[in-house]
Amino acid sequence: NKRSVDNLRSPIVCVLGHVDTGKTKILDKIRHSHVQDGEAGGITQQIGATNVPVYAIKEQSKMVKNFQGNEIKIPGLLVIDTPGHESFGNLRSRGSSNCDIAILVVDIMHGLEPQTIESIGLLKKNKTPFVVALNKVDRLYEWKSHPENDIATTLRKQKQYVLEEFREKVNGIIVQFAEQSLNVKLFHENDDPETWISMVPTSAHSGDGMGNLIALVVKTCETKLARKLAFSENLQCTVLEVKAIQGLGTTIDVVLTNGRLKYGDTIVLPGTEGPIVTHIKGLLMPQPLRELRVKNPYDKFNEIQAAYGIKILAKDMDKALAGTSLLVAYNDDEIEILKEEVQAE
Ligand code: GTP
Ligand code: MG
Ligand code: NA
Repeated sequence: NKRSVDNLRSPIVCVLGHVDTGKTKILDKIRHSHVQDGEAGGITQQIGATNVPVYAIKEQSKMVKNFQGNEIKIPGLLVIDTPGHESFGNLRSRGSSNCDIAILVVDIMHGLEPQTIESIGLLKKNKTPFVVALNKVDRLYEWKSHPENDIATTLRKQKQYVLEEFREKVNGIIVQFAEQSLNVKLFHENDDPETWISMVPTSAHSGDGMGNLIALVVKTCETKLARKLAFSENLQCTVLEVKAIQGLGTTIDVVLTNGRLKYGDTIVLPGTEGPIVTHIKGLLMPQPLRELRVKNPYDKFNEIQAAYGIKILAKDMDKALAGTSLLVAYNDDEIEILKEEVQAE
């Protein structure tokens, strides 16, 4: 199994934070989509997944100083959206459990809130590196937006009293993070990312800071995580959601972190009535920059190499369980062993 830092998979990026801090809106800005507008009550109720290809990263980070888009080594980002409402703690836990890095979204006007603290607990437990998006910066009184500029430049162009309000909010948030034993700094004042966690001011409405946020995630992945992101043939695949889709029957949405899945593969996974053994009848993905959890036209694949968010069609998926691992039996002798393995999970 040759693994190499010259063959990186996409990092899995989990977006976490208190309800209505703008997690889905940030993704909508990156995707040029309107997923949030279609959500019942504007509340996310499922785990989402979006494949963000490298061309979109390059395009949207053009304005970022000291960031060379054509030097990006990862093939893209697999971004996982999670609900912030307090009743969905299980989905936050599931969505964040297998991620490589996270974006913790904080409403700059509100600071740290109960599910921000809960999310910090998950990140600490899993030792997940993360960056902070200080979102809704456009709500500072008389903020002037310049999404075409680096956010550090945009900050410098603000009126004195706008900067003063900004500083006051940021200093309050720094204290709140310190109370959680975390050292945070504004990203452009952070010359020691090993010690300090970076915060990027953003607006999902105006687009301010969005390029800086994407660039920071990419940079952090390529510096801190390169070895972990070396593609491995060892299958690592988790079930995100079990979903009935009109015309397709019950399907599963999975995150393929490492390895590959093929049409016809014999898969073994835990089920409500014991282990399920079945064959992959369809490997589907939405177009790049489209959300897996929203009904979209899907493309069919014969084989997919990690990392991607994938919808799998197969018999007996109505008995599948979200949050569990999916295994592949490469020959029939393996089936019984794998059944025991998933039984033990
Ligand atoms: P949950 O998934 O339900 O936890 O919410 P969320 O964190 O995904 O937030 P969402 O994207 O649903 O946005 C919540 C509200 O905040 C919506 O009304 C958005 O329009 C608004 N919002 C999001 N980002 C910004 C921003 O940068 N500026 C302003 N002014 N409003 C924003
Ligand atoms: Mg949301
Ligand atoms: Na919301």
